[in-house]
Amino acid sequence: MFTTGNGPVQIPEAAIRARVKELGEAIARDYQGRTPHMICVLNGAFIFMADLVRAIPLPLTLDFISISSYGNAYKSSGEVELIKDLRLPIHGKDVIVVEDIVDTGLTLSYLLEYLEARKPRSLRVAALLSKPSRRQVEVPIHYLGFEIEDAYVYGYGLDRAQFDRNLPFITSIRPEEE
Ligand code: XMP
Ligand code: MG
Repeated sequence: MFTTGNGPVQIPEAAIRARVKELGEAIARDYQGRTPHMICVLNGAFIFMADLVRAIPLPLTLDFISISSYGNAYKSSGEVELIKDLRLPIHGKDVIVVEDIVDTGLTLSYLLEYLEARKPRSLRVAALLSKPSRRQVEVPIHYLGFEIEDAYVYGYGLDRAQFDRNLPFITSIRPEEE
């Protein structure tokens, strides 16, 4: 059986499904007549990405990038290591970055700078989760799933010490348990 956390954030499977469908519809409206190029930020966004692209009824292309912030998952240092680069060029493309969670914003800010340097035609962000109370740098999120309070969340692609990515829902543990 799947275990559930006892923290303040609990997002059931049906709520995620409904929200991802809305985000897909919003993207489809905004990118009508264009071909979005979706970039999944591994590992945490892999399930969100898989569901999101299937909710966008447009021709699209996609790619994966893997980055890792130094420090532990809860305390981002802002220094980011590129683990796996993109395979496809993004020059001139309508890029949408797909992230699992924006916390301090440092990782996304680094990534946007990295991608911007490759001169896409446009660059937007879809993030499943955001913890606005933790933000250290301003980052744009054009398509946001859920705003959540400050707790360590996992499930639906996000890990708890590498486990629990396969939970179909999102749950949390209290910060003091970290
Ligand atoms: P920053 O602080 O740079 O961090 O916005 C973003 C990255 O940190 C990880 N992160 C989490 N991962 N549960 C997780 O499983 C969380 O509550 C959490 N908060 C931050 C995540 O990799 C994200 O991309
Ligand atoms: Mg991540």
